[in-house]
Amino acid sequence: SQYSVVVPAAGIGKRMKTDCPKQYLHIAGKTIIEHTLTNLLEHSQVQRVILVLNPNDTLFAQLPIASHPRIEVVEGGQERCDSVLAGLNYLSDNEEWVLVHDAARPCFAATDLSTLLQLAEQGSIGGILATPVRDTMKRAFDVNVNRQNIVKHTESREHLWHALTPQFFKLAALKKALNTAAEQKINITDEASAIELLGEKVLLVEGSASNIKITQPEDLLLAEFYLTQNKLNN
Ligand code: CTP
Ligand code: MG
Repeated sequence: SQYSVVVPAAGIGKRMKTDCPKQYLHIAGKTIIEHTLTNLLEHSQVQRVILVLNPNDTLFAQLPIASHPRIEVVEGGQERCDSVLAGLNYLSDNEEWVLVHDAARPCFAATDLSTLLQLAEQGSIGGILATPVRDTMKRAFDVNVNRQNIVKHTESREHLWHALTPQFFKLAALKKALNTAAEQKINITDEASAIELLGEKVLLVEGSASNIKITQPEDLLLAEFYLTQNKLNN
């Protein structure tokens, strides 16, 4: 089967500290958003992309990919969850499942997306790509007089995972979950958190750790490495 993907791309990329939003920075000859969209649309189970843009965005319309017949644009909101909800509200209720994928994650592997989509045949409400935490995890307690952070304790790494995207859920459940979170004014940072609030079980699908979210300047070189390497492997 084929699915719609909601792609939140309405952020301003504060942590990247560049003038234009990070999704419009160039890596290996293309903008980050073009890499993400192309990689999604090349997957045989992706039917179309609902691209959520900032109302002030003037850059997307200038890209060649703007005229792609399987990309539809909607306006985003203040927080990521508002943007995702705007994308979901655009979809018809006839769609049973929906994918959500960050514009800032161009390096996801097509095979990981295929594995995630298999959840549709497994009688669950959905799940997310995730990768196990590798480093020893410290919970900080407080700061001392010199404003240095102090360790309270070491968290057990055993059950800790990084939540990535794509995230894949039943559309009706996800809409209900995000609306509930919005009503309760809970600012959630991924779709799974909203589903968890409903008390539903979110499945973790282990994906590649190279699926980084481009967040800070140092992520650009790493993303370039992964993107050019993926091309060689395909
Ligand atoms: N996003 C969005 N609408 C928002 C905020 C974020 O659609 N109001 C999107 C971003 O464009 C990005 C994804 O959500 O593709 C993940 O968010 P993040 O990495 O935090 O991007 P920014 O919010 O743009 O970056 P920052 O938090 O550093 O400002
Ligand atoms: Mg953000």
